[in-house]
Amino acid sequence: MSDLLELDHISLAYDTPEGLVPVVKDLCLGLKQGHIGCLLGSSGCGKTTILRAIAGFEPLRAGEIRLAGRCLSRPDQAVEPQARQVGMMFQDYALFPHLSVEDNVGFGLRRLDKAQRRARVNDMLELVGLSDARHRYPHELSGGQQQRVALARALAPEPGLLLLDEPFSNLDVDTRERLAFELRDILKKTGHTALLVTHNQAEAFAIADRIGVMDRGRILQWDTPYALHHAPTSPFVADFVKREVLMAQRAQAYQRGLAAE
Ligand SMILES: Nc1ncnc2c1ncn2[C@@H]1O[C@H](COP(=O)(O)OP(=O)(O)OP(=O)(O)O)[C@@H](O)[C@H]1O
Ligand SMILES: [Mg+2]
Repeated sequence: MSDLLELDHISLAYDTPEGLVPVVKDLCLGLKQGHIGCLLGSSGCGKTTILRAIAGFEPLRAGEIRLAGRCLSRPDQAVEPQARQVGMMFQDYALFPHLSVEDNVGFGLRRLDKAQRRARVNDMLELVGLSDARHRYPHELSGGQQQRVALARALAPEPGLLLLDEPFSNLDVDTRERLAFELRDILKKTGHTALLVTHNQAEAFAIADRIGVMDRGRILQWDTPYALHHAPTSPFVADFVKREVLMAQRAQAYQRGLAAE
């Protein structure tokens, strides 16, 4: 099976007053239909820039982006963002404050007639467990509920690909963990293909079928979580994975210590 999403040797740079600053360098990855991919890396390594390029908001300096075999971007040509069938959920997942939950979810469905729209909104609210909150406004919801509304809104138009940039960044640790598993369940149930960005390794390993460990605009390894643990191809990836495992073990030991007191 060929990949649904293909990033083929892409390079990205920002135009700044000091000149062109390269951010992403000759990067390749492929994501299969129905898979969840995750870009993992420290702040500033270029994760958001890559998602923005896939969504159509950053021009490519080199390479090509394809979705289902169709070229979305290359340096001399780009499909408009709204014509890409790519759904997005960004860091602050900004819901429309003056719209109810159901109107937020239905926002991208204006092309459907009223009955179809209502049916689709109902399905989405049921999927994320918020049918009872349909008439509430965003400020009447918890952070986790708002996050689920944003997910329902992103999924409602049935995008061919869903991009999620740090979808849990504003939530407490417990809610984050719960929603990470919930997100995986929802995406697997609906068969969506998604590329997610995080700098939380535990989250990436909980959710992803493929993880890309990034360093300064490059993907050092794009692989299964298992392979990253057991067959890292570079000292950087080995250290990166080991460091987080050590931290998790230390946190557990610390909690056990507290429990014993
Ligand atoms: N509009 C812009 N103009 C110039 N430089 C930018 C712009 N946006 C981002 N950058 C720079 O590009 C690099 C990559 O930024 P990007 O936002 O993709 O990082 P990131 O991996 O998403 O980081 P974080 O984890 O902090 O969100 C950074 O050095 C950043 O300062
Ligand atoms: Mg970012």
